[in-house]
Amino acid sequence: MSLEGRSLVTMDDLSNEEIEGVFSLADEMSESMTGQSGVCQGKIMASLFFEPSTRTRLSFEAAMLRLGGRVITAVDISATSLAKGESIADMARVVGSYADIIVIRHPWEGAAKVVADYAGVPVINAGDGGHEHPTQTLLDLYTIRKERGTIKGLKIALWGDLKYGRTLHSLACALARFGASILFRPAPGLEMPEHVVRKLTMDYGGELRKCEAVDQTGKGGVFSLDAIYVTPSTPHQLAMMPDISIQVELEKGVDAIYVTRFQKERHAQANGGDDIKKAYPVVDKKLLKEKTFKQTLVMHPLPRIDELAHELDADPRSMYFKQAARGVPVRMALISLLLGARKVDIPEVKEPISRRKAGYPVYDRGFGIRCQNRSCVSVNEEKYIKAEFRIASRQPLTLMCVYCEHEIFPKYVASSEWHEGTLESKRYHSADSHWGRKIRLENLIVFDSESEARSRGFKPGKNIHG
Ligand code: CP
Repeated sequence: MSLEGRSLVTMDDLSNEEIEGVFSLADEMSESMTGQSGVCQGKIMASLFFEPSTRTRLSFEAAMLRLGGRVITAVDISATSLAKGESIADMARVVGSYADIIVIRHPWEGAAKVVADYAGVPVINAGDGGHEHPTQTLLDLYTIRKERGTIKGLKIALWGDLKYGRTLHSLACALARFGASILFRPAPGLEMPEHVVRKLTMDYGGELRKCEAVDQTGKGGVFSLDAIYVTPSTPHQLAMMPDISIQVELEKGVDAIYVTRFQKERHAQANGGDDIKKAYPVVDKKLLKEKTFKQTLVMHPLPRIDELAHELDADPRSMYFKQAARGVPVRMALISLLLGARKVDIPEVKEPISRRKAGYPVYDRGFGIRCQNRSCVSVNEEKYIKAEFRIASRQPLTLMCVYCEHEIFPKYVASSEWHEGTLESKRYHSADSHWGRKIRLENLIVFDSESEARSRGFKPGKNIHG
C-alpha cells in the first residue's frame, strides 16, 4: 500500500484496509522507536497549531524527529500573517512551498480541507474546530485493537460533550465502520449532531435505537442512559437480535467507555454552557464498580478537567496515558506513509469510504444558499471559497456542506431549465411541494429565502406554500 501524496482531512480519507496498514506499520515502529531515524531524513514538516495543544502537536513533532526529519512550527495565530488578514489558502500555498508535509490545527471547521486543497503537499488535520480530529481516532482505534484484539462486535460508550467533541465525531464513524456498536451518553443538551448521526445511518448502515433514561442501579441514577444504539449493517447485529434491549446489553458489559471533557472554547462561541457544566456526567470509582463496567477500558483523548476522576489513574482499566503515548508510533507511521517514505502490504482495498460520499450529487452553483454554521471556513473565508454541498437527501431536501458537513434544509427551489426570455416561467417553489420535488437534480437551484429567490429574478410559483 502506498499513501504517497495523500492527505488525511477526515476519517473518510482512509479505507479500513488502509487504517490496518497504518496500524501494522505503527506496530513495527513502536518496536524500534530509535531505529527509524533514516526514514524521513531531509524532509520538513510544518506544524501549524492555531489552537492550544500538548499531545497532538508534540507527538507529531516527536514523530517527525524520530523519523529523522525536521520541523518548522507556528503556534500563535497572532504571530502569523493570518492576523494581518491573509487567507488560509494563501498561507497554505506558501507553507506548502517550504515544507514536505503540513499538520494543521485551526478553530474553523473545514480549515484543514482548504489547506489540503491549496498546499500542494500532504496535509494532516490535527483538529478543525468541532468537526474532526482523525489522527486522534487512529490512536484510539489502535489502542482498542491492541487491548482487545479486535474492534468488531465491541460495545463502546461515548461520553460527555458529543456535540462539540471533534474526537467523538471522527471516532463514532470509524467504530461503526469497523463493526463496533456505539452507545451515546451525552451531557444534557450535548447530543451527537444530526450530521454525524446521519453519517452513521446513511453512510455506514447503522440502525438507531433510542431508549428512555434508565437507571442501572435502581439507587437514584448512578448510571442513567439516554442512548442511541448504532450497529453496522454488515453484520447487522440488530437484525439478528430484533428484541434487543439497551438495558440488557448494558448488563452484559461495556467494552470501553470513551470520556470527553466539556469543550468550553466551543461553548464560548455558542454563548453558554454554565448549566450544562453542572450536570456533566462524571466517571469515577463509584461508577466503575457497576457490573456494566467491570471489564471496561476507560479512554479519554485528554486533556481532562472534572469529568474523569484522578482516583482512576492507577486502575488497570485506565488507558488514557497509554493512548497518548501511542500517538507517537501511529503518527510516525502516518507521516512516513503520506511522504512515500514507507509502504506496507495490505489486503486488496475495497471501495474507499470517501467514494461512497462522492456518490452524493454536488450542489455548487455558488449562489442561493450558504452554510449556516458560523464556525465553517466557507463562511469565514467567503471571498474565495465557493459554497459547495452534497445533496444528502431529496425528501426532505437536505444539503451537507463539503467543508464542515453541517446540514441545511433549503426551503425554496427553482429549476435552471426555465425558458430563456420568458420570465413568466422563471418561478420558485416550496422545496417540499409537488413542483419542487419534480425538478431534476441537475437543474436544481436552491434558496435560503424567498427574498434570495426574488433577487435572482424568480417569481413565486403557483401554490408556493402548497
Ligand atoms: N487529544 C488532544 O488532541 O490533545 P491536545 O489538545 O493536547 O493536542
